[in-house]
Amino acid sequence: MGKPKLVVSTGAGISAESGIKTFRDAGGLWENYPVMQVASADGFRRDPALVHQFYNHRRHELLKVKPNAAHLALVELERDYDVYIITQNVDDLHERAGSANVLHLHGELMKIRSVSDPEYIESLDADHLDTTPQTRGRRGDLMRPHIVFFQEAVPNIEPAVELVAQADIFVVIGTSLNVYPAAGLLHYVRPGVPIYYIDPNPASTVGIPDVHVIKEPATRGMEQLAKILTSRH
Ligand code: APR
Repeated sequence: MGKPKLVVSTGAGISAESGIKTFRDAGGLWENYPVMQVASADGFRRDPALVHQFYNHRRHELLKVKPNAAHLALVELERDYDVYIITQNVDDLHERAGSANVLHLHGELMKIRSVSDPEYIESLDADHLDTTPQTRGRRGDLMRPHIVFFQEAVPNIEPAVELVAQADIFVVIGTSLNVYPAAGLLHYVRPGVPIYYIDPNPASTVGIPDVHVIKEPATRGMEQLAKILTSRH
């Protein structure tokens, strides 16, 4: 019998205390950028250079920040649990914190992919953060940010649903539960499996049984959750 399976769904809120802006909080990313211009398929068709610049800017920001205590607390839990992270975030803070299993639903900022072949993906490094619509990969393909834009499919939602359906404990951290299909993962938890939701300003979870809301920022909420989980284990 392996360790209990702890499945965690994270949103922008877990990276807030690292200094990365969320999207919908006051002063959030979508207040300064028209989301449909910089993060949608139509916007990318209309002005690809603007979209490349938007993600170039976010990559430079990402290099200035590091994982916070909430990311690290999730790594600590791997001692007692099989921890699987499903994240809407495109930052690499879970990976940099040392999490073993990270599934990105909305893509990855530090990767680019072929415009013509979505399976062909390359990683960017600190010396080559910037891309343009003319950027070509090593194979010669024109490349684009490896991001799921609005109006595009979320290919990783199927494996994410499978993970949630196998969870012994499900944890949601720092998401406004505004964006589907990610927000719907809650509904795939087996009956009787406890759900913990850490968020200082939690969205309503009316209608979803067994949700324990921890109304705290991610770092403090994870301290409380770690105590609950290590006592029950
Ligand atoms: N700790 C935990 N949660 C926090 C903190 C914090 N310190 N600060 C803010 N939050 C919470 C907010 O209360 C909110 O519930 O983080 C959540 C941020 O919500 P959004 O900005 O909507 O981010 P998210 O839910 O991840 O957005 C989902 O929308 O724009 C798309 O693709 C983008 O992945 C993103 C998706």
